Amino acid sequence: MAYRIQSGSALQKVLPCIDLSSALSKTKREVLYRHYADKLVVNPELNRALVSFQANKNIPFYRWLKYKEAFSSGLVQYCLQKFQPPRMSRLRVLDPFAGAGTTLTTATKEGWHATGIELLPVGVAAIRARLLADSVDIRSFEYYLNRLEKISWHSSQLNGFKFPHLRITDKAFPEQTERAFSTYHAFLNGIRRKDVRFLFWFACLSVLEDVSYTRKDGQYLRWDSRSGRLLKSNFNKGPIRDFCSAITGKLRLMLQDIRQRGGERFSRNVNVIEGSCLTQLCRLPDASFDLVITSPPYCNRYDYTRTYALELAFLGHNEESVKQLRQSLLSCTVENKTKRIQLAQEYRRRNLEGRYKAAVTAFASQEALHEVLALLYAAQEEGKLNNNNIPNMVENYFFEMNLAIRELSRVLAPGGRVVMVNDNVQYNGEEVSVDLILSDFAARSGLTIDHIWVLPRGKGNSSQQMGTHGRNELRKCVYVWSKRNPRLSGRQA
Ligand SMILES: C[S@@+](CC[C@H](N)C(=O)[O-])C[C@H]1O[C@@H](n2cnc3c(N)ncnc32)[C@H](O)[C@@H]1O
Repeated sequence: MAYRIQSGSALQKVLPCIDLSSALSKTKREVLYRHYADKLVVNPELNRALVSFQANKNIPFYRWLKYKEAFSSGLVQYCLQKFQPPRMSRLRVLDPFAGAGTTLTTATKEGWHATGIELLPVGVAAIRARLLADSVDIRSFEYYLNRLEKISWHSSQLNGFKFPHLRITDKAFPEQTERAFSTYHAFLNGIRRKDVRFLFWFACLSVLEDVSYTRKDGQYLRWDSRSGRLLKSNFNKGPIRDFCSAITGKLRLMLQDIRQRGGERFSRNVNVIEGSCLTQLCRLPDASFDLVITSPPYCNRYDYTRTYALELAFLGHNEESVKQLRQSLLSCTVENKTKRIQLAQEYRRRNLEGRYKAAVTAFASQEALHEVLALLYAAQEEGKLNNNNIPNMVENYFFEMNLAIRELSRVLAPGGRVVMVNDNVQYNGEEVSVDLILSDFAARSGLTIDHIWVLPRGKGNSSQQMGTHGRNELRKCVYVWSKRNPRLSGRQA
């Protein structure tokens, strides 16, 4: 049986076995909630700072780039200690959404072998910078920093370099900052050592927001009215740093951290895979990790390619490559289109059709999810959503996460665990229980749901939603799933 989601020929879709009348009674979601209710526990050892970038702000190396979507090194340490398998010689951790690499470098410092998959080049650059910090020659770094501090920014020659703007970054910098980029570009070209040059380049990437008229604000870049762009709001982000002081300040901070590295050894056992975990996870061998610590993008419409537009432009991306990147990231924006055809092809090409089909079946039978989707598609038909692509986004998000979770279950060694940070979301007043739905996908892939740790204070819904639907605290959670070890059966914690 199927229900009609959208009228209009091209968008006619078929989803499994949900009766819209039962959807309206919300019973499937209630059943799901009851099923996992005893797993939902508040963990007082966790707090919002720990599961966000906040606690990294003053931590050497992690403070170089403000990667707001990161979790803290402290959270990773907490998980490593809590879930270290007993008596193992080679501990292996995986982060399929590695971001700026918090899991990877925290774990390697503790002696683990770490593998990360990351698609956004900004994250990859941050990981690379931290790895290079291990071995970069301090004297050479210092030498170039001293030279930079003697540059006369106003009278130095421009080398013709222009910041390679995208449409959405146009007018992001004051005129003198645009000129300073050219001076700095010439300076970078004069650095002979590759690792020092990379770190000086990375320092520039890390100060772009500070020296711009923009602020990263979740879904979008927020623009300061001084930018000269045509804007509706009168936002003023406060003082905008001049490039010279921002870059030298950043490099001084980096030098301070590098000087204190004292055998940190971030880079010893790190393997970074640049690409999408949706196509990379299926290539990893079975049972090859003891622990997964990760946080996927949330299903909250935040668009990494928008918030990191300055950095992507600096990295040389053009309009088309940004569009492609957005489409390849896990679907969490209303612009994302379904990836099902490409994913099916990828699995077929690797002779993994059986795995793909099993994932499709598991997705199709998650009734609580399809109940929410039915409500969202109905709201779409009634014109009640502030964006008509929200139901597609939610559907694609769960389809892709289900596939990723099944792969995590496969690559996990018996006795291993997955720790995942994620937020629930709400659209049109309907709470989407991301924690319960993803945990149910995990259970269907053979994992045991140990806990769904709820943070003592959740997250309010967006101001837009709050106006219409009132304040509703959404659960912010850390899920802990484990893979049964038949040899220890009955003795597992
Ligand atoms: C919440 S952040 C993770 C941050 C990370 N825990 C850290 O501490 O830096 C989610 C990350 O997933 C990445 N991502 C999104 N889609 C991806 C995909 N298909 N494959 C790999 N990484 C992806 C994003 O670029 C982002 O860096």
